[in-house]
Amino acid sequence: MGPDKIGERVSSTAVSLGKRRYRVLIGEGLLEQLGALVRHHLSRKMCAIISDNNVARFLAQRAQEGLKSAGSRPTLITIPAGEKSKTLEQAGAICDQMIAARLDRQSFVIGLGGGVVGDISGFVAAIYHRGIPHVQIPTTLLAMVDSSIGGKTGVNTRHGKNLIGVFHHPLLVIDDLDVLKSLPRREFNQGFAEIIKHAVIADAKMFRTLQSWKATEAVALQRLIKRNIEIKSKIVAKDERDQTGERALLNFGHTVGHAIERAGNYRRFLHGEALSLGIIAACAISIRRAGLAPDQRDAIVDLLRRFELPTKLPKNLPSEKIFDVLKFDKKFEDGKVRFVVTPRIGAARLANDVTLDDIREAVKQL
Ligand SMILES: NC(=O)c1ccc[n+]([C@@H]2O[C@H](COP(=O)([O-])OP(=O)(O)OC[C@H]3O[C@@H](n4cnc5c(N)ncnc54)[C@H](O)[C@@H]3O)[C@@H](O)[C@H]2O)c1
Ligand SMILES: [Zn+2]
Repeated sequence: MGPDKIGERVSSTAVSLGKRRYRVLIGEGLLEQLGALVRHHLSRKMCAIISDNNVARFLAQRAQEGLKSAGSRPTLITIPAGEKSKTLEQAGAICDQMIAARLDRQSFVIGLGGGVVGDISGFVAAIYHRGIPHVQIPTTLLAMVDSSIGGKTGVNTRHGKNLIGVFHHPLLVIDDLDVLKSLPRREFNQGFAEIIKHAVIADAKMFRTLQSWKATEAVALQRLIKRNIEIKSKIVAKDERDQTGERALLNFGHTVGHAIERAGNYRRFLHGEALSLGIIAACAISIRRAGLAPDQRDAIVDLLRRFELPTKLPKNLPSEKIFDVLKFDKKFEDGKVRFVVTPRIGAARLANDVTLDDIREAVKQL
């Protein structure tokens, strides 16, 4: 499933979320119209485009020209590509560059990039002059269907991921399908792990659509992205601040997925790849604890494979290593585990009766 066959058709769709009701535009050729699109929502002119050096190479010029043609005055600020840039120091350096460029309270921030840029640019927008508007232009499939929605922004510390952050919803999200053309195939496919997760926890119909997914036609992809945004925003709207447990359903597959990411030193697997294995482990636990039918688990595994996602642990990564990481997970401290299970494709719930042994068994089967 390469991203290369995405078509040319230009259209846009608006989706709104919860109380804030921000817009998500999905279509083609949107970067070229960026200035006009932003203008429609915001009368400010001065802005910082925050991007990473990789994405900037492909897309910064188009974004800058799109803005300038509508009278905006963008300052481009780039950070090195990759998770290691998501730090407080880097956020401070971005703020310093914004101050040097004389961006004031009346300015705004555009995040042009994947989840890393989305998270750090949102964080900067939240703290700069105590908060200025944030426009997200996600450039990975994962960022379009997941990280750009829900208002979580933040940075990592050496003690762990996303430990410092704030909720700051964007004013506007712009999903330009054209940007996906330069996205490496592995990065494109990992977005499908989150999409399949959404299908398993909330949408059996989308699951069936994915089972016969051939088209990388823009319309099909546009519809799929829109549906995923709806699923995530509906869950987030019920539990915006992650307090009632509803939002936790989005963590399906992530307990084991995160452990696999860590066991691979965050280099071996992309997040979506580790999630793919985490989903399979969560299915094994769901068979035991939630009555998931084994043939539904098999259908989920087949679907992950269809998108070239891993479904077996590599031989040289023993399951004990993953279990060792899990044992030290703070979530398991009091012996009780809150684990997201699926009783059938299209539904999910939190279970309190999952034991560490259940998880050990599920990881062993990978
Ligand atoms: N805020 C949230 O709710 C939330 C949810 C999920 C994930 N996240 C965060 O998202 C991050 C992961 O996001 P990601 O997978 O998008 O990673 P990423 O931002 O690191 O992007 C992945 C790679 O693809 C490159 N890239 C991005 N767009 C490209 C394009 N159009 N063409 C060519 N190359 C491109 C980037 O330079 C990078 O090397 C993590 O930091 C994670 O914590 C946040
Ligand atoms: Zn995830």
